[in-house]
Amino acid sequence: MEALRLVLLYVHLIGFALLLGGSIAQYVSGRLRINPAMLWGSVIGLLTGLGLAAPLRDGDEPAPAKLVTKLVLALLIFVMVFFSRKRESVNRGHFLAIVGLTLVNAAVAVFWR
Ligand code: HEM
Repeated sequence: MEALRLVLLYVHLIGFALLLGGSIAQYVSGRLRINPAMLWGSVIGLLTGLGLAAPLRDGDEPAPAKLVTKLVLALLIFVMVFFSRKRESVNRGHFLAIVGLTLVNAAVAVFWR
């Protein structure tokens, strides 16, 4: 179980890297659109996060409220990415909200103990 949890966490972090890295790279390019790294990062983060929310830890499980908070934030990010993925450009506020929600979700993972 611990090996499975670590593999899920590893892939979860790759999803996080794709989502945040893809967003920042896109932002500095000056053209605000949803790129494939952002789309895949949000899908990978959501799916592996659901796996990590399973009871894999022999007791010391994260608080359910933390998991629900992370799930709501990840769903918001996914909706904002998925339904805008074909647009030539998105509003600055929309794009920065994706970056902000991603950072908040990582902060929830790290600081909510
Ligand atoms: C885009 C969305 C997400 C981002 C950016 C994100 C970010 C992160 C990061 C950076 C970590 C590593 C923290 C650490 O190991 O200390 C982490 C861990 C974790 N994430 Fe996510 N996550 C997302 C979605 C989700 C979802 C949807 C769930 C499940 C509802 C979830 C559940 C977890 C769990 C259980 C851990 C392990 C931390 C712990 O055991 O307390 N994540 N996440």
